Amino acid sequence: MESQKIQIAPSILSADLLRLEEQVKALSENGADFIHVDVMDGHFVPNLTFGPNMVKALKRITSVPLDVHLMISNPDAYIEVYARAGADILTVHQEACTHLHRTIQNIHNQGIKAGVSLNPATSLSTIENVLDDLDLLLIMTVNPGFGGQKFIPQGLRKIAEARKMINASGRDILLEVDGGVDLQTVESIVQSGAKVLVSGSAVFGQPDIVKAMQELKAKAEKA
Ligand code: DX5
Ligand code: ZN
Repeated sequence: MESQKIQIAPSILSADLLRLEEQVKALSENGADFIHVDVMDGHFVPNLTFGPNMVKALKRITSVPLDVHLMISNPDAYIEVYARAGADILTVHQEACTHLHRTIQNIHNQGIKAGVSLNPATSLSTIENVLDDLDLLLIMTVNPGFGGQKFIPQGLRKIAEARKMINASGRDILLEVDGGVDLQTVESIVQSGAKVLVSGSAVFGQPDIVKAMQELKAKAEKA
């Protein structure tokens, strides 16, 4: 809803893996609202990243909710394992789900929040019929698979449309944006109606990650 405040979800995809504990703790203690975990399977997207053990390990070092973004084929087979590992929100891709309604129910049956993500080429109409079941809608503003890609500006119109759909639903659905969120793009993203901002390289790619996250959030709050 419009009353929600801006929240920031640093993506550990761009973290220094050898300093992961220190970096996640620093962000958690200094204003991160979520820790965004990008799970890639080398099939749904052309890259491989983390599995449930990463989620389990993060859960031990932070109390900030874990926002787990599954960029994997056949996500139904892994819902239970990620829920048990400690995911607080589990987001699947619409494009990877044959029975999206069932998948969302499977996530809720684990007692956690359910999100659905849309690739840049996927229309919002594909989730219209499940909107009432969602806790989070994730609009991708790059093609998923890699950090540090350029923001696709056509995404702004989609964010604005999603905002209208969510407001019309009257439900408290988080509108999250992922891909190319940085100091240049954040204002227009927030003005279009996004409330949860995922950021990988614009946080972890900077010399002072805490300062970078706080500056991004401050700019978003003023937009
Ligand atoms: C991309 C991932 C993103 C990624 C964003 O497929 O879903 O979460 O970390 O990275 P930036 O913020 O660098 O575009
Ligand atoms: Zn992501």
